Amino acid sequence: MKTISISAALLVAAPFALAQSPAWGQCGGEGWTGPTTCVSGYVCTYSNYWYSQCIPGTATSTQPTSTMTTSTGNPTSTSTGTVPTGSVGAGIGQNSQTSINAKFRSHGKLYYGSIIDPGTMSASGNTVKANFGAVTPENSMKFDAIEGTRGSYNFGGSDQVVNFAKQNNLIVRGHTFVWDQQTPSWVGSLSASDMTTVLKNHINAVMSRYKGQIYAYDVVNEHINEDGSVKSTLWTRKLGNDVFRIAFETARAADPNAKLYINDYNLDSNNAKVAGIVRLVNQLNGNGTRLVDGIGSQGHISGGQGSSAQSALTALAAANVGEVAVTELDIASAPSNDYVAVAKACLAVSKCVGITVWGVRDQDSWRTGTNPLLFDNSFKPKAAYNATLAAL
Ligand code: G3I
Repeated sequence: MKTISISAALLVAAPFALAQSPAWGQCGGEGWTGPTTCVSGYVCTYSNYWYSQCIPGTATSTQPTSTMTTSTGNPTSTSTGTVPTGSVGAGIGQNSQTSINAKFRSHGKLYYGSIIDPGTMSASGNTVKANFGAVTPENSMKFDAIEGTRGSYNFGGSDQVVNFAKQNNLIVRGHTFVWDQQTPSWVGSLSASDMTTVLKNHINAVMSRYKGQIYAYDVVNEHINEDGSVKSTLWTRKLGNDVFRIAFETARAADPNAKLYINDYNLDSNNAKVAGIVRLVNQLNGNGTRLVDGIGSQGHISGGQGSSAQSALTALAAANVGEVAVTELDIASAPSNDYVAVAKACLAVSKCVGITVWGVRDQDSWRTGTNPLLFDNSFKPKAAYNATLAAL
């Protein structure tokens, strides 16, 4: 694991005295008012117009010399051949014509990613490296995987994912803290005060371990009902809506540079659930401090639903957040037009930073019977993959 130097740690602890961004920290982008140079050994590297990051290296700062602006307000790149390395999320040596991530990034977006975990890494790793720019740990960073026993942390699986990402210049999306599932039953039995302590300790343990190495976290997952109200879960039954404030405040303090998300399913059309999550986010961000940076729309959908993606993302982006993302995309039977529609929807919504598909090949999908992914069981790109490439 990367250890943060003492000087970088001091800089993080005293943000107003920052002269240089720490390792893997933000150093530029739209609205960024922090430092634009990096600590020794790191170079400020342009990812896109809203984000530059301190990446290992010694070259001078790599900011864009000029950008063309598309109708979405995003800059475009004119890269041909192999995508240059040097900005996290580009992968290493990805081919600009065959990597869906390279094609997506050429429109100014941050990543087109997938999931990985130790159990799928040896089979899927090469396909991920060649085609995707971000990884989410499918299960290994969930509460039960990290802290099955109170106070005893197991980072074996999540370390493998983060190391894989760092070795291959990929972004990591962390997943997840406040969720009703894959959380040990002992958590639900705690008193409110004990539960608060456990939640804070858990978030601090994970986020301090990976400080500066994880782009975004799904801090809260699946907490909205279909009618837009807040769901009754083991967390909200004990702590009410205050659990959201506690979780986001703790996460913000633990890694101020990580983007903090609320994530949910069935945000696939401009529906009551979308309105509900926007309402909750605006409440949480309404006291003068932005607690929630982004809304994640999971995107577990069926054929035909892709056509609603743009209106849904537009409605989510209207919340008081900096960004939105499609975080767990899979589409029953993988129709090409739906995958293309979701990709185009993200391109059309300037706050949409990226898309993550929930799996690489069909046989590893949680919806395996529906063959919803972009690669077949031999890791051959399916029609939807090729159609998306062609549309980008
Ligand atoms: O780790 C145990 C293993 O010890 C045991 O032998 C085995 C027996 O069934 O189960 C293993 O746990 C499984 C776990 O994945 C890890 O492989 C669980 O049974 C299984 O239910 C679990 O499924 C995961 C599911 O979340 C749990 O809710 C899926 O892999 C994962 O893709 C899925 O991901 C979720 C997102 O986190 C949130 N949004 C919805 C999405 C799809 O359900």
